[in-house]
Formats: sequence, structure tokens, C-alpha cells
Amino acid sequence: MTIAQWTDGMATGLCEIDCQHKALIKIANGLHEVLSKNKGKEVVSQAASFLLDFVSENFQNEERIMQSCDYPSYQSHKMLHDEFVGNLKGLIGRFNNTGDTAFLINSVQHSIVKWLLDHFASEDKKLAEHVMNITGKRVA
Ligand SMILES: [Fe+2]
Repeated sequence: MTIAQWTDGMATGLCEIDCQHKALIKIANGLHEVLSKNKGKEVVSQAASFLLDFVSENFQNEERIMQSCDYPSYQSHKMLHDEFVGNLKGLIGRFNNTGDTAFLINSVQHSIVKWLLDHFASEDKKLAEHVMNITGKRVA
């Protein structure tokens, strides 16, 4: 079952960021799939780590872009990233300790995916608008 879906409303217009967001949606769906198909703790743990790694890569990429164009909301945007990564690490750590599939699947459905999609459509769009205003380009 696909729980996260890309919509045009999420597009920031910066293709590098949008490509990463599309990949993140696929990875989040992949994690949800291995959880719902009860693929076992090892497989779920790997899928969760993959999501964490790719989220971190996307956030670092955005933070580089923000710094390179003196984005005025850099600190508050980075704080949102740091909070999310901290929460995600906590959820994965709890799963790795307990193997509690029901808890993780609930978190993926009701908090992780929702946060990511909302963030793409709000904060990341604001960042992209700033970049496009100062560069006049639609690529980072
Ligand atoms: Fe972001």
C-alpha cells in the first residue's frame, strides 16, 4: 500500500530538491511496505536506516543551498530539520530495541510521512522561492 504520494502542489521548482523529495516518498513507501508485510526486524531496520540516511542527505543539501544564498530563515529551517532527524532517530532506536512493528508503522503513517509532505509543501517551497528570486533560475 502506498501511503505517500507526490503531488504537483509539493513541487518547489528546484529540480535537485524535487528529485530528492520524490525519492524520499518512494523510500518512505518502501519502509511502510516492509513493515506492513512483516518482513522481519532486520529488513525493517535497514529500510528505516535508509530513510534516515536519505533524509539527512536531503536536509544537508538544502542547508548548503540556504547558506550559499544567505537565506534569512536558515536557522529556523535548520532547527525543523534537526528536530525531525532527532525524532526519527528516536523512533528507529526504539524499534531496534523493541522490534515493535505496530508502533513504527503507526509513526510512519501518522507522523513521519505527514511531516515530510507538509514540510516539502511549505518550508521547502519558501526556500526555493528565495533561491529563484535571487538567481532567476529554476535549478539550484
Ligand atoms: Fe527542508
